[in-house]
Amino acid sequence: MDDLRQKYLGAVTSAADEPALEEVRLAALGKKGEIALNMRELGQMSPEERMTVAPTLNALRDEVASAIAARKAALQDAALDERLRAEWLDVTLPPRPRCQGTVHPVSQVTEEVTLIFAEMGFAVAEGPQVEDDWHNFDALNIAPEHPARQEHDTFYMARQPGDNRPPHVLRTHTSPVQIRAMLGQGAPLRVICPGRVFRADYDQTHSPMFHQVEGLAIDRDITMAQLKWTLEEFLKAFFEVDRVDLRFRASHFPFTEPSAEVDIRCSWDNGTLKLGEGDSWLEILGSGMVHPKVLTAGGIDPAQWQGFAFGMGIDRLAMLKYGIPDLRAFFESDLRWLRHYGFGSLEVPTLAGGLSR
Ligand code: DAH
Repeated sequence: MDDLRQKYLGAVTSAADEPALEEVRLAALGKKGEIALNMRELGQMSPEERMTVAPTLNALRDEVASAIAARKAALQDAALDERLRAEWLDVTLPPRPRCQGTVHPVSQVTEEVTLIFAEMGFAVAEGPQVEDDWHNFDALNIAPEHPARQEHDTFYMARQPGDNRPPHVLRTHTSPVQIRAMLGQGAPLRVICPGRVFRADYDQTHSPMFHQVEGLAIDRDITMAQLKWTLEEFLKAFFEVDRVDLRFRASHFPFTEPSAEVDIRCSWDNGTLKLGEGDSWLEILGSGMVHPKVLTAGGIDPAQWQGFAFGMGIDRLAMLKYGIPDLRAFFESDLRWLRHYGFGSLEVPTLAGGLSR
């Protein structure tokens, strides 16, 4: 019995890991283990013999079992210590460097505008930047001889020699998307169309590529009053002010009748623009009631439906809201400018959380 005790307690102590320990357990206490076999022999002994052997054997079995359990716990502790040593983490290291990229003011303002109109039930519609003559002009009631064709300083795409169809153009405004939305979706309709537009013009406030957003609402009883309310709500939300004062000035666009240009009341205090107060007026958009011919071109019956439309420059909105003086800098990709005027890429504008930082 003493030999058995020495043998197994020794084996438990020298088991180097859990599999080795398990082997010791099987050899001693498993069904065919040495101690288990000895216990089975108790049955063949005389009662007197059994009285002396059984308690010692039981005690030996318990001693070996608890030695195994203790050794197992010790091995697990050691393994954990080893892992903790290997997988350490230096929490005093500085965090990752701040993200270097920024969101361009045009992207930011497009997001803001989209968000505000989305709240009012307007979906976003899109169209191609290389547009055909019909969508860009004719369908919008701009006939070939109409002076607006010259005013738009259009970029024309090349045609193969001998191809006498009117050339495609780089769209001069986002208004052709009105036509595509009408033809594609029918009435009733509420869309805004933000996107790039192109005109051959270049100075402090003009760039050959710039951005507009078009708005179009068509329903059975749309009036100028709704146009006015919609624009007021938009401008208040966009400029983050409680009130705006708007002036609707009679104007002319081929695609609307009547047409109005909209000015916003402002003051220039030492060169800083303040909206909603003062004696100056700043023109910010063109608008009107959709011309019956335009509805017809869009496949919508003008006897049943009316609509309002408006168009404004996104870059210009960005310049006004964020005090950016020169439009050309928007598209020069100067890193210093982008870092100065750019927006954090994780600061997504929301109406509740604030549109801008
Ligand atoms: N398309 C016009 C432009 O580029 C802007 C415009 C004016 C759009 C009046 C409209 C509108 O939808 O009703 O100058």
